[in-house]
Amino acid sequence: MAAVVSNWSAAWRAIRFARSLQPSLIPCLKFHASASPMMATVDEFNHAKSQMGTLKEDPGNEAKLQIYGLFKQATVGPCNTKKPGMLDFINKVKWDAWKSLGSISQEDARQKYCDLIGSLLAAEGGAAEVAAQPAGSAAAYETLLVTTEDNITTIKLNRPAKKNAITTEMYHEIIRALEQAAKDESVITVFTGAGDFYCSGNDLTNFTKIPEGGMQQMAKDGGELLREYVKAYIDFPKPLIAVVNGPAVGVSVTILGLFDIVYATEGATFHTPFSQLGQSPEGCSSYTFPKMMGTAKASEMLLFNKKLTAVQACEQGLVTEVFPENSFQTEVWPRLRAYAKLPRNSLALSKQLIRGVEKERLHAVNDAEVERLVERWLSDECMAAVMSFFQTKAKL
Ligand code: COA
Repeated sequence: MAAVVSNWSAAWRAIRFARSLQPSLIPCLKFHASASPMMATVDEFNHAKSQMGTLKEDPGNEAKLQIYGLFKQATVGPCNTKKPGMLDFINKVKWDAWKSLGSISQEDARQKYCDLIGSLLAAEGGAAEVAAQPAGSAAAYETLLVTTEDNITTIKLNRPAKKNAITTEMYHEIIRALEQAAKDESVITVFTGAGDFYCSGNDLTNFTKIPEGGMQQMAKDGGELLREYVKAYIDFPKPLIAVVNGPAVGVSVTILGLFDIVYATEGATFHTPFSQLGQSPEGCSSYTFPKMMGTAKASEMLLFNKKLTAVQACEQGLVTEVFPENSFQTEVWPRLRAYAKLPRNSLALSKQLIRGVEKERLHAVNDAEVERLVERWLSDECMAAVMSFFQTKAKL
């Protein structure tokens, strides 16, 4: 049985490789009618060949097949050998790789071979650069600390003096950091906060910066930003893990329903005081919370502002596991580093399977929540609550 399974998986892989090598499906193997004006010389081709041996990492089977096909085309010309039999998987995929190049000239194949080796070398150089200078280091972000290390991209909210309240600028930066993390070499992405708080939610001063178009414009712009912000999480392709290092409020709580794992320190709390602020839930929580914890428990939080302890949040499915305060960081990070050693594609594709079925619904929920909030932000109830927050602060 095992042999049959292994043969079938080899056959499946072979078909996939062969398909993936169809010129129309591979941008770098799209051939143009006119040849590139600068063709690689034989010396350059030989140099690229020797450079291939310096690659530090295995470029993967797909790239190796492209390299093989281009090498044969460059040195022999169009494929001139008999098609291997169906069960001769390895030679069949190699033959397919060569054959798929059709009648492109040997010069053109030489050039494409050099380009491919060059891009693989550059990718390795690029990865090293990322490690040396973390993706989006302090120079790139004003409100976040973003690092990539041990296959983990960490996005740390970095306004500890304001309990990591999320300003407009910070929303933009988080969206950008998520976009970068989605594309970088990391296996998992981790969110956490600097200081004693995880995050105190939307920065209420966002409501005091009225643009030229007045309150209507402020609410409209805020709605669009929130929609993009939540969308970045819904569409995030890799495992997303929250390391909740302290109390969490508002949007930093609601968005947790879109995370794959939530680890919390014992002292963390989870609070969504929407009705207190004349607002309504966001971050898809109007859907994810009832689904996770049942409508009755979700309503206590989302309608009646119930603040949960970490242990309660864990019992209700919002948190994966709670750790003692004094060993939180030392227990969580080794575990995350171990997760990050798992195969990148397997994790990403499995996450996408789990979340894929819900994506359309989540986008619809996001749209509906944003529409409601834009209306709420313009309400007297909300304005009075925000004014009251700042008045209380002023009195202290
Ligand atoms: N928006 C704007 N400023 C915020 C903020 C927020 N969401 N959360 C904290 N801050 C500011 C405080 O105004 C204070 O600023 P100051 O030092 O200039 O006075 C600073 O961060 C520290 O907060 P402080 O209130 O002194 O700390 P605390 O430990 O007593 O309380 C909170 C922390 C988070 C419980 C309290 O600040 C709070 O309730 N914030 C509002 C949370 C909120 O309603 N978020 C929106 C949810 S929808």
